[in-house]
Amino acid sequence: NVEGPMLFGLPLKYISLVTLAVQNAALSIVMHYSRVSLPPSQTYSPASAVLLNEILKGLISFFVAVIQVYNSKESPYRGSLCLSIAHVYREIFSTDSWKLSIPAILYVIQNSLQFVAISNLPVATFQVTYQMKILTTAAFSVVLLRRSLSPTKWVALCFLALGVGIVQIQSTSATGPTHKSINTPVGSAHDAAPVHIHIMSPLKGLGAVTAACFTSGLAGVYFEMVLKGSKADLWVRNVQLSLFSLVPALFPVFFSDHRNSQGFPRDLLRNFGGWAWGTVAIQTFGGLVTAVVIKYSDNILKGFATSLAIILSFLASVALFDFKLTPSFLVGSTTVLVATWMYNQPAGKETITIPLPSRP
Ligand code: C5P
Repeated sequence: NVEGPMLFGLPLKYISLVTLAVQNAALSIVMHYSRVSLPPSQTYSPASAVLLNEILKGLISFFVAVIQVYNSKESPYRGSLCLSIAHVYREIFSTDSWKLSIPAILYVIQNSLQFVAISNLPVATFQVTYQMKILTTAAFSVVLLRRSLSPTKWVALCFLALGVGIVQIQSTSATGPTHKSINTPVGSAHDAAPVHIHIMSPLKGLGAVTAACFTSGLAGVYFEMVLKGSKADLWVRNVQLSLFSLVPALFPVFFSDHRNSQGFPRDLLRNFGGWAWGTVAIQTFGGLVTAVVIKYSDNILKGFATSLAIILSFLASVALFDFKLTPSFLVGSTTVLVATWMYNQPAGKETITIPLPSRP
């Protein structure tokens, strides 16, 4: 079957693609709201959210890896839960597991930076600027994987940088000339104010999203290198990724300002309400869907999902946060979408092949 595995009568690769687009849009909206809807003293710790995300992702991936071995017709451990668990355990702690330590650290940094970015930028601006990760992914692919890019792809990358630049001009100029500690009610410039004044710093947000694009590109390319360089199962690799993430994710939990005399386990869930749990759940789900997209589709379709997410989060921002459409946002995001589409054209698509008429 060329379409691969099916779910509810539809190809899993398309289901995972659409799911990733909706997840991307939902995450930025829920994460943004969870950070800006309460005063800083009443908000949850992003460090706890990043840690919980890794724990949940690791546990679910372990469960999926075990179920796969338990159900696989080729597996000698089929039907035995204990032997399946023992096999997955041996795979996780195999000698090359250390290779996942680098993307693990990078993803923890990226996931933490995402919180800084989303707390300081309107949702739609964050989504468009985050498209710069296509540029960093391309750069790291050329350097680390020795991949060569077609002229169309280089042109698309230039358009991408241009589009992001146009959106950035809008996001920084709309909030005034002083970027630090602007008393921006959530939405006076971009969003509708809900209950209180939230201090947004667009420059800090743009710095964070730019850094997140670098870690995303490097981690993605490194993960691809590790995945293609061995036969290990994707879900086992995901568990290894989560295990190596625990150390860098635990570090800020112990040393963050959110700690008080109550002690570690209670501080971890301080101010963790519905929106915080929603953010963690959507982020965990996104990590798992990303893994499915990598396995059953490819990065081309993953890029499309992200650009679809821009439109979805833009429409949601208009409806939920009273986001105002400005000409520069429209021009910038359209340029980003066209660039994403151009970049994702399969190699050789430019050459048109005309089928010869068959001889009678
Ligand atoms: O946007 P980007 O593709 O860089 O986002 C990757 C996200 O997916 C990160 O939050 C990362 O933690 C997660 N991920 C994952 N498992 C993988 C690859 C990425 O959880 N195998």
